[in-house]
Amino acid sequence: MYLNNLILKNFRNCITTEIVLSPKYNIFFGENGAGKTNILEAVSVISGIKSFRGSSDDEMIQRGKYFYYCRGEILEEREILEIAYSVGGNTKKKKVKINNKEIDKFSDYFGRFLTVIISPDDINLIKGSPEIKRKYFDSYIAKINRSYTESLLKFRKALTNRTIIIKKIRDGYFSEKKHLDVWNYIFAEEASKIISHRNFFIFVLNEYFSEIFHRISGTQYSPQIKYLNSLSLEDKEDILKKLENNYNKEIILGVTLQGPQRDNFIFSDKNGDDCIPFFSQGQKRAVALALKCSEIIHIEKNFDKKPVVLVDDIFSELDEKRRKNVFDMFKNNYQVLFTTVNPENIVSTGFDNCALFNIIEGKVEMV
Ligand SMILES: Nc1ncnc2c1ncn2[C@@H]1O[C@H](COP(=O)(O)OP(=O)(O)OP(=O)(O)O)[C@@H](O)[C@H]1O
Ligand SMILES: [Mg+2]
Repeated sequence: MYLNNLILKNFRNCITTEIVLSPKYNIFFGENGAGKTNILEAVSVISGIKSFRGSSDDEMIQRGKYFYYCRGEILEEREILEIAYSVGGNTKKKKVKINNKEIDKFSDYFGRFLTVIISPDDINLIKGSPEIKRKYFDSYIAKINRSYTESLLKFRKALTNRTIIIKKIRDGYFSEKKHLDVWNYIFAEEASKIISHRNFFIFVLNEYFSEIFHRISGTQYSPQIKYLNSLSLEDKEDILKKLENNYNKEIILGVTLQGPQRDNFIFSDKNGDDCIPFFSQGQKRAVALALKCSEIIHIEKNFDKKPVVLVDDIFSELDEKRRKNVFDMFKNNYQVLFTTVNPENIVSTGFDNCALFNIIEGKVEMV
Protein backbone atom coordinates (compact mmCIF):
# COMPACT_ATOMS: atom_id res chain seq x y z
CA MET A 1 0.00 0.00 0.00
CA TYR A 2 1.08 3.58 -0.41
CA LEU A 3 -0.03 7.09 0.41
CA ASN A 4 -0.79 8.84 -2.85
CA ASN A 5 -2.18 12.13 -1.74
CA LEU A 6 -2.05 14.02 1.55
CA ILE A 7 -4.14 17.07 2.48
CA LEU A 8 -3.65 18.95 5.75
CA LYS A 9 -5.41 21.96 7.24
CA ASN A 10 -4.43 23.79 10.42
CA PHE A 11 -2.23 20.90 11.45
CA ARG A 12 0.54 22.26 13.72
CA ASN A 13 2.45 24.92 11.73
CA CYS A 14 0.91 23.87 8.40
CA ILE A 15 -1.98 26.17 7.42
CA THR A 16 -2.97 24.21 4.35
CA THR A 17 -1.18 21.86 2.02
CA GLU A 18 -1.80 19.20 -0.59
CA ILE A 19 1.02 16.82 -1.43
CA VAL A 20 1.16 14.20 -4.17
CA LEU A 21 3.69 11.60 -3.10
CA SER A 22 5.87 9.16 -4.95
CA PRO A 23 4.96 5.49 -4.39
CA LYS A 24 8.64 4.96 -3.58
CA TYR A 25 10.93 7.39 -1.78
CA ASN A 26 9.95 10.83 -0.54
CA ILE A 27 12.25 13.24 1.25
CA PHE A 28 10.96 16.15 3.33
CA PHE A 29 13.88 18.44 3.99
CA GLY A 30 14.31 21.79 5.67
CA GLU A 31 15.76 23.60 8.66
CA ASN A 32 15.22 22.60 12.27
CA GLY A 33 11.71 23.55 13.33
CA ALA A 34 10.46 23.91 9.74
CA GLY A 35 7.68 21.33 10.20
CA LYS A 36 9.13 18.10 8.74
CA THR A 37 8.23 15.80 11.63
CA ASN A 38 4.79 17.44 11.76
CA ILE A 39 4.08 15.94 8.34
CA LEU A 40 5.03 12.43 9.49
CA GLU A 41 2.91 13.00 12.59
CA ALA A 42 -0.10 13.89 10.39
CA VAL A 43 0.47 10.68 8.41
CA SER A 44 0.59 8.72 11.69
CA VAL A 45 -2.73 10.32 12.69
CA ILE A 46 -4.30 9.16 9.41
CA SER A 47 -2.84 5.71 9.97
CA GLY A 48 -3.70 5.13 13.62
CA ILE A 49 -6.07 8.01 14.60
CA LYS A 50 -3.44 9.20 17.07
CA SER A 51 -0.05 10.89 17.04
CA PHE A 52 3.08 8.74 17.08
CA ARG A 53 4.57 11.41 19.36
CA GLY A 54 1.86 10.77 21.95
CA SER A 55 0.57 14.34 21.56
CA SER A 56 -3.03 15.23 22.31
CA ASP A 57 -5.42 16.35 19.55
CA ASP A 58 -5.57 19.82 21.13
CA GLU A 59 -1.80 20.17 20.77
CA MET A 60 -1.97 19.34 17.07
CA ILE A 61 -4.46 22.09 16.21
CA GLN A 62 -2.63 25.11 14.91
CA ARG A 63 -2.31 27.70 17.66
CA GLY A 64 -5.20 30.16 17.48
CA LYS A 65 -7.38 27.85 15.33
CA TYR A 66 -10.26 25.61 16.40
CA PHE A 67 -9.82 22.51 14.22
CA TYR A 68 -7.38 20.38 12.31
CA TYR A 69 -8.07 18.19 9.30
CA CYS A 70 -6.00 15.41 7.70
CA ARG A 71 -6.91 13.44 4.61
CA GLY A 72 -5.01 10.62 2.95
CA GLU A 73 -5.68 8.74 -0.25
CA ILE A 74 -4.36 5.17 0.01
CA LEU A 75 -3.57 3.16 -3.10
CA GLU A 76 -3.81 0.39 -4.34
CA GLU A 77 -6.61 -0.07 -1.80
CA ARG A 78 -8.37 3.06 -3.15
CA GLU A 79 -9.40 4.31 0.24
CA ILE A 80 -9.90 7.88 1.37
CA LEU A 81 -9.28 8.30 5.10
CA GLU A 82 -10.19 11.54 6.87
CA ILE A 83 -9.69 12.69 10.43
CA ALA A 84 -11.14 15.98 11.64
CA TYR A 85 -10.85 17.27 15.18
CA SER A 86 -12.49 20.45 16.45
CA VAL A 87 -12.97 22.29 19.69
CA GLY A 88 -15.66 24.83 20.44
CA GLY A 89 -16.86 26.04 23.83
CA ASN A 90 -16.90 22.96 26.02
CA THR A 91 -17.23 20.46 23.19
CA LYS A 92 -14.50 18.50 21.49
CA LYS A 93 -15.31 16.42 18.43
CA LYS A 94 -13.28 13.90 16.51
CA LYS A 95 -14.70 12.62 13.25
CA VAL A 96 -13.24 9.70 11.36
CA LYS A 97 -14.36 8.92 7.82
CA ILE A 98 -13.60 6.03 5.51
CA ASN A 99 -14.54 6.70 1.90
CA ASN A 100 -16.78 9.58 2.92
CA LYS A 101 -18.69 7.54 5.53
CA GLU A 102 -18.31 8.45 9.18
CA ILE A 103 -17.43 5.51 11.42
CA ASP A 104 -18.29 5.27 15.10
CA LYS A 105 -16.27 2.19 16.02
CA PHE A 106 -12.54 2.85 15.77
CA SER A 107 -12.07 -0.90 15.26
CA ASP A 108 -13.55 -0.43 11.74
CA TYR A 109 -10.32 1.38 10.95
CA PHE A 110 -8.21 -1.71 11.67
CA GLY A 111 -5.58 -2.50 9.03
CA ARG A 112 -6.70 0.24 6.60
CA PHE A 113 -3.46 2.17 6.44
CA LEU A 114 -0.40 0.44 7.88
CA THR A 115 2.63 2.51 8.82
CA VAL A 116 5.77 2.04 10.88
CA ILE A 117 7.66 5.03 12.25
CA ILE A 118 11.40 4.94 12.79
CA SER A 119 12.67 7.84 14.87
CA PRO A 120 15.62 8.80 17.09
CA ASP A 121 13.28 8.44 20.10
CA ASP A 122 13.11 4.66 19.45
CA ILE A 123 16.13 4.32 21.72
CA ASN A 124 13.67 4.87 24.60
CA LEU A 125 11.93 1.63 23.65
CA ILE A 126 15.18 -0.12 24.51
CA LYS A 127 16.38 1.69 27.61
CA GLY A 128 13.15 3.39 28.79
CA SER A 129 10.76 2.49 31.58
CA PRO A 130 8.55 -0.62 31.49
CA GLU A 131 5.62 1.77 30.90
CA ILE A 132 7.15 3.13 27.69
CA LYS A 133 7.83 -0.44 26.48
CA ARG A 134 4.33 -1.63 27.35
CA LYS A 135 2.83 1.31 25.48
CA TYR A 136 4.89 0.54 22.39
CA PHE A 137 4.25 -3.22 22.35
CA ASP A 138 0.56 -2.73 23.11
CA SER A 139 0.06 -0.38 20.18
CA TYR A 140 2.14 -2.67 17.95
CA ILE A 141 0.12 -5.79 18.94
CA ALA A 142 -3.08 -3.77 18.39
CA LYS A 143 -1.96 -3.10 14.81
CA ILE A 144 -1.67 -6.84 14.19
CA ASN A 145 -4.52 -8.19 16.30
CA ARG A 146 -8.00 -6.72 15.90
CA SER A 147 -9.36 -7.82 19.31
CA TYR A 148 -6.36 -6.67 21.37
CA THR A 149 -7.48 -3.03 21.83
CA GLU A 150 -10.87 -4.17 23.07
CA SER A 151 -9.24 -6.46 25.64
CA LEU A 152 -6.96 -3.64 26.77
CA LEU A 153 -9.90 -1.26 27.23
CA LYS A 154 -11.95 -3.80 29.21
CA PHE A 155 -8.91 -4.72 31.28
CA ARG A 156 -8.09 -1.07 32.13
CA LYS A 157 -11.67 -0.44 33.22
CA ALA A 158 -11.58 -3.51 35.49
CA LEU A 159 -8.18 -2.50 36.88
CA THR A 160 -9.33 1.06 37.65
CA ASN A 161 -12.56 -0.07 39.29
CA ARG A 162 -11.04 -2.83 41.38
CA THR A 163 -8.26 -0.51 42.58
CA ILE A 164 -10.85 2.11 43.60
CA ILE A 165 -12.76 -0.56 45.55
CA ILE A 166 -9.58 -1.88 47.19
CA LYS A 167 -8.74 1.65 48.37
CA LYS A 168 -12.29 2.12 49.66
CA ILE A 169 -12.14 -1.15 51.61
CA ARG A 170 -8.77 -0.11 53.03
CA ASP A 171 -10.23 3.23 54.09
CA GLY A 172 -13.30 1.59 55.65
CA TYR A 173 -15.98 2.71 53.15
CA PHE A 174 -16.88 -0.79 51.95
CA SER A 175 -16.85 -3.70 54.32
CA GLU A 176 -17.85 -6.34 51.80
CA LYS A 177 -15.34 -8.08 49.62
CA LYS A 178 -18.08 -9.11 47.17
CA HIS A 179 -17.93 -5.70 45.46
CA LEU A 180 -14.65 -6.85 43.98
CA ASP A 181 -15.98 -10.06 42.46
CA VAL A 182 -17.32 -8.74 39.17
CA TRP A 183 -14.18 -6.72 38.46
CA ASN A 184 -11.92 -9.61 39.47
CA TYR A 185 -13.69 -11.80 36.94
CA ILE A 186 -13.26 -9.30 34.07
CA PHE A 187 -9.68 -8.56 35.18
CA ALA A 188 -8.78 -12.28 35.08
CA GLU A 189 -10.52 -12.90 31.77
CA GLU A 190 -8.95 -9.95 29.92
CA ALA A 191 -5.54 -10.29 31.60
CA SER A 192 -5.45 -13.90 30.41
CA LYS A 193 -6.15 -12.81 26.81
CA ILE A 194 -3.59 -9.97 26.94
CA ILE A 195 -0.88 -12.25 28.37
CA SER A 196 -1.51 -14.93 25.79
CA HIS A 197 -1.39 -12.36 22.93
CA ARG A 198 1.84 -10.91 24.31
CA ASN A 199 3.44 -14.36 24.67
CA PHE A 200 2.53 -15.43 21.15
CA PHE A 201 3.45 -12.07 19.63
CA ILE A 202 6.93 -12.00 21.18
CA PHE A 203 7.50 -15.60 20.09
CA VAL A 204 6.79 -14.66 16.44
CA LEU A 205 8.61 -11.33 16.61
CA ASN A 206 11.83 -12.94 17.88
CA GLU A 207 12.22 -14.92 14.65
CA TYR A 208 12.32 -11.72 12.59
CA PHE A 209 14.26 -9.77 15.18
CA SER A 210 17.28 -12.11 15.42
CA GLU A 211 17.73 -12.27 11.67
CA ILE A 212 17.40 -8.51 11.17
CA PHE A 213 19.69 -7.72 14.08
CA HIS A 214 22.39 -9.88 12.47
CA ARG A 215 21.91 -8.03 9.19
CA ILE A 216 21.99 -4.53 10.70
CA SER A 217 24.77 -4.98 13.23
CA GLY A 218 26.86 -7.49 11.30
CA THR A 219 27.46 -9.46 14.52
CA GLN A 220 26.87 -13.17 15.13
CA TYR A 221 25.07 -12.87 18.41
CA SER A 222 21.59 -11.36 18.73
CA PRO A 223 19.72 -10.56 21.92
CA GLN A 224 16.25 -12.05 22.34
CA ILE A 225 13.15 -10.06 23.24
CA LYS A 226 11.74 -11.43 26.48
CA TYR A 227 8.28 -10.80 27.88
CA LEU A 228 8.22 -10.64 31.69
CA ASN A 229 4.74 -11.59 32.85
CA SER A 230 4.38 -10.30 36.42
CA LEU A 231 1.65 -12.84 37.22
CA SER A 232 3.69 -15.77 35.83
CA LEU A 233 0.32 -17.25 34.84
CA GLU A 234 -1.80 -17.26 31.71
CA ASP A 235 -4.94 -19.22 32.57
CA LYS A 236 -7.88 -17.08 33.76
CA GLU A 237 -8.89 -19.44 36.59
CA ASP A 238 -5.30 -19.38 37.93
CA ILE A 239 -5.27 -15.58 37.71
CA LEU A 240 -8.57 -15.40 39.61
CA LYS A 241 -7.11 -17.61 42.36
CA LYS A 242 -4.03 -15.41 42.57
CA LEU A 243 -6.24 -12.33 43.02
CA GLU A 244 -7.96 -14.12 45.90
CA ASN A 245 -4.61 -15.04 47.45
CA ASN A 246 -3.33 -11.47 47.14
CA TYR A 247 -6.46 -9.99 48.71
CA ASN A 248 -5.10 -9.24 52.20
CA LYS A 249 -1.85 -7.79 50.90
CA GLU A 250 -3.65 -5.61 48.36
CA ILE A 251 -6.03 -4.24 50.98
CA ILE A 252 -3.13 -3.22 53.23
CA LEU A 253 -1.25 -1.58 50.34
CA GLY A 254 -4.31 -0.18 48.51
CA VAL A 255 -3.06 -1.28 45.08
CA THR A 256 -3.51 -3.98 42.44
CA LEU A 257 -0.23 -5.84 42.86
CA GLN A 258 0.23 -7.91 39.72
CA GLY A 259 -1.11 -8.03 36.20
CA PRO A 260 -0.42 -6.90 32.63
CA GLN A 261 -0.19 -3.30 33.94
CA ARG A 262 3.07 -4.27 35.69
CA ASP A 263 4.66 -6.38 32.95
CA ASN A 264 7.92 -5.61 31.22
CA PHE A 265 9.78 -6.42 28.02
CA ILE A 266 13.55 -6.81 28.06
CA PHE A 267 16.30 -7.63 25.59
CA SER A 268 18.11 -10.60 27.04
CA ASP A 269 21.44 -12.35 26.60
CA LYS A 270 22.03 -16.11 26.39
CA ASN A 271 21.45 -16.47 30.14
CA GLY A 272 18.13 -14.66 29.93
CA ASP A 273 19.46 -11.53 31.66
CA ASP A 274 18.86 -7.96 30.50
CA CYS A 275 21.83 -7.10 28.27
CA ILE A 276 20.96 -3.46 27.53
CA PRO A 277 22.84 -1.99 30.55
CA PHE A 278 26.04 -3.45 29.05
CA PHE A 279 25.43 -2.24 25.49
CA SER A 280 27.12 0.81 23.97
CA GLN A 281 25.04 3.67 22.62
CA GLY A 282 25.60 2.39 19.06
CA GLN A 283 24.59 -1.16 19.99
CA LYS A 284 21.41 0.15 21.63
CA ARG A 285 20.65 2.05 18.46
CA ALA A 286 21.12 -1.11 16.40
CA VAL A 287 18.68 -2.95 18.71
CA ALA A 288 16.12 -0.14 18.32
CA LEU A 289 16.51 -0.12 14.56
CA ALA A 290 16.26 -3.93 14.36
CA LEU A 291 13.08 -3.79 16.43
CA LYS A 292 11.44 -1.31 14.04
CA CYS A 293 12.61 -3.18 10.94
CA SER A 294 11.16 -6.38 12.47
CA GLU A 295 7.88 -4.53 12.94
CA ILE A 296 7.87 -3.73 9.21
CA ILE A 297 8.40 -7.38 8.25
CA HIS A 298 5.96 -8.66 10.88
CA ILE A 299 3.18 -6.35 9.63
CA GLU A 300 3.94 -7.22 6.03
CA LYS A 301 3.77 -10.97 6.71
CA ASN A 302 0.60 -10.62 8.77
CA PHE A 303 -1.40 -8.54 6.28
CA ASP A 304 0.37 -9.61 3.11
CA LYS A 305 0.78 -5.89 2.40
CA LYS A 306 3.80 -3.63 2.69
CA PRO A 307 3.39 -0.91 5.31
CA VAL A 308 4.44 2.66 4.55
CA VAL A 309 7.68 3.45 6.39
CA LEU A 310 8.12 6.85 8.05
CA VAL A 311 11.77 7.62 8.80
CA ASP A 312 12.22 10.66 11.02
CA ASP A 313 15.72 11.99 10.65
CA ILE A 314 17.70 8.93 11.73
CA PHE A 315 20.22 9.00 8.91
CA SER A 316 22.32 11.73 10.47
CA GLU A 317 22.86 9.41 13.46
CA LEU A 318 23.96 6.32 11.53
CA ASP A 319 27.39 5.53 10.19
CA GLU A 320 27.92 4.66 6.53
CA LYS A 321 27.74 0.89 7.09
CA ARG A 322 24.47 1.02 9.00
CA ARG A 323 22.94 3.41 6.46
CA LYS A 324 23.73 0.88 3.74
CA ASN A 325 22.23 -1.93 5.84
CA VAL A 326 19.04 0.09 6.28
CA PHE A 327 19.00 0.83 2.58
CA ASP A 328 19.18 -2.91 1.86
CA MET A 329 16.11 -3.37 4.01
CA PHE A 330 14.05 -0.69 2.28
CA LYS A 331 15.07 -1.03 -1.33
CA ASN A 332 12.49 -3.77 -1.67
CA ASN A 333 9.68 -1.49 -2.84
CA TYR A 334 8.42 0.08 0.35
CA GLN A 335 7.06 3.58 0.14
CA VAL A 336 9.32 5.55 2.47
CA LEU A 337 8.80 9.10 3.78
CA PHE A 338 12.08 10.50 5.08
CA THR A 339 12.68 13.72 6.95
CA THR A 340 16.14 15.23 7.07
CA VAL A 341 18.00 18.49 7.31
CA ASN A 342 20.34 17.33 4.56
CA PRO A 343 18.78 15.25 1.72
CA GLU A 344 22.25 14.39 0.40
CA ASN A 345 22.68 11.88 3.30
CA ILE A 346 19.76 9.88 1.97
CA VAL A 347 20.30 10.26 -1.77
CA SER A 348 23.99 9.30 -1.48
CA THR A 349 23.05 6.06 0.34
CA GLY A 350 21.39 4.81 -2.85
CA PHE A 351 17.83 6.07 -2.59
CA ASP A 352 17.65 7.61 -6.03
CA ASN A 353 14.60 8.94 -7.90
CA CYS A 354 13.33 10.48 -4.67
CA ALA A 355 10.50 13.00 -4.67
CA LEU A 356 11.95 16.02 -2.86
CA PHE A 357 9.85 18.40 -0.78
CA ASN A 358 11.31 21.51 0.78
CA ILE A 359 9.60 22.51 4.02
CA ILE A 360 9.80 26.17 4.95
CA GLU A 361 7.87 27.35 8.01
CA GLY A 362 5.14 24.77 7.52
CA LYS A 363 4.82 25.33 3.76
CA VAL A 364 5.63 22.48 1.39
CA GLU A 365 7.31 23.13 -1.95
CA MET A 366 8.00 20.31 -4.36
CA VAL A 367 11.49 20.60 -5.80
N1 LIG B 1 0.01 23.54 17.46
C1 LIG B 1 0.92 24.22 16.78
N2 LIG B 1 0.58 25.37 16.11
C2 LIG B 1 1.50 26.05 15.40
N3 LIG B 1 2.79 25.68 15.27
C3 LIG B 1 3.17 24.57 15.91
C4 LIG B 1 2.27 23.78 16.68
N4 LIG B 1 2.95 22.73 17.18
C5 LIG B 1 4.22 22.85 16.75
N5 LIG B 1 4.37 23.95 15.99
C6 LIG B 1 5.58 24.42 15.32
O1 LIG B 1 6.10 23.38 14.52
C7 LIG B 1 7.50 23.52 14.46
C8 LIG B 1 8.17 22.20 14.75
O2 LIG B 1 7.90 21.33 13.74
P1 LIG B 1 8.67 19.94 13.58
O3 LIG B 1 8.82 19.28 14.86
O4 LIG B 1 7.98 19.24 12.48
O5 LIG B 1 10.09 20.49 13.08
P2 LIG B 1 11.20 19.70 12.25
O6 LIG B 1 11.27 20.30 10.89
O7 LIG B 1 10.97 18.25 12.32
O8 LIG B 1 12.49 20.13 13.05
P3 LIG B 1 13.80 19.28 13.48
O9 LIG B 1 14.69 19.26 12.27
O10 LIG B 1 14.38 20.09 14.57
O11 LIG B 1 13.34 17.93 13.91
C9 LIG B 1 7.92 24.55 15.46
O12 LIG B 1 8.23 25.72 14.75
C10 LIG B 1 6.69 24.73 16.31
O13 LIG B 1 6.55 26.03 16.79
MG1 LIG C 1 11.89 16.74 13.37
